[in-house]
Amino acid sequence: MAENKRTFLEELQEAKSHSYAVGAFNIFNHLSARAVVRAAEELGLPVILQTSVVTVKEFGTVQLGAMLRQLAEEASVNVLIHLDHCQDVELAKACVDAGWDAVMYDGSRLSLEENIAGCREVVEYAHRKGVQVEGELGRIVGVEDALKVSAEDASLAGLEDSIRFVRESGIDAFAPAIGTAHGVYKGRPKINFDLVAQLKEALAAPVVIHGGTGLSEETFRRLICSGGAKVNVSTAIKHAYLDTCRDYFKDAPAKPDPIGFDRILSHAIEQTVKDHMIIFTKDRA
Ligand code: 13P
Repeated sequence: MAENKRTFLEELQEAKSHSYAVGAFNIFNHLSARAVVRAAEELGLPVILQTSVVTVKEFGTVQLGAMLRQLAEEASVNVLIHLDHCQDVELAKACVDAGWDAVMYDGSRLSLEENIAGCREVVEYAHRKGVQVEGELGRIVGVEDALKVSAEDASLAGLEDSIRFVRESGIDAFAPAIGTAHGVYKGRPKINFDLVAQLKEALAAPVVIHGGTGLSEETFRRLICSGGAKVNVSTAIKHAYLDTCRDYFKDAPAKPDPIGFDRILSHAIEQTVKDHMIIFTKDRA
C-alpha cells in the first residue's frame, strides 16, 4: 500500500465529508500493531497506528518507525502512523524524520500563544517533509501513558480561541477538549457536541476526538455526525491485551505454547478494533 496512498490529512478530509471517522488505535508492540492492521484489512478500512511517547522511547524512534512502516507497506489497506500527545518539539521532529505520517504536538498545558508557537515550529518542519500535524486546545482530563491531567487542571476549548489556534498554528487536524476523557470513565461524560459541530463548519481542519474508550455507540455516532473525523482509542486496546493475559493464565496455567498465546492476544485486540471501526463507519454517507 506504499504507492499513491492518501495522506493522513486526505484520509481525515475524506472521512469528514462522508460522515465517518478513521479509528486511531494506540499500539505498544509488534503484536498489537499487527492486530490493528489485520482488523482494518478484514473490514477494508483505512486505519491509524498511533504511538505514545512512552512507546516511542521504549523502542527507539528509528526502530519503531521501521517496524511500523514495514507493516504499513505490506498492508492491503491504507495504514497511517501517527505520534500521540508529544510535548517535546525535538522528539516530534525525530518522528517526522523516522517515517511517521503525522505527529501531534501537545502544547495544551501552555498559554495559547506558546501552544501556537510550538505547533508552528513542528508544522514548519513537518510540512517540508510532507508530514501533517495535530494540535490540542483546552486540556483533556485523565491518564494517557505518562500524561496525566487532573480534573482541576482540565479545561474545555472555546470556539473563538479554537479558530485562532488553528489559523495561527497552521495545524492540519484539531483536537479540542470537548468533555471526553483519557482512560476509563467514572460517570457519564458531559460532552460539548455543539462545539464539534461549530468547529466542523468553521474550520477546514478535521476535528479529532480523544478519549474513545468507554463511550457508548450513541455517543460515538453523535460525535462523528457532528464532525469528528478521527477517533482515538487507547485504553480499550491495553485492556483487551492485559485482560486476555490474565484470563489465559487463570484458565490454562503454564501451557508451553507462546505462539498460541500470542494468537489469542492478537484475536482479542482485533475484535476490539473491529467493534470500534464498525461503529465509526456506521453512518458513512
Ligand atoms: P482512551 O485511552 O480513553 O481510549 O483515549 C485515547 C486517546 O485519546 C489517546 O490520545
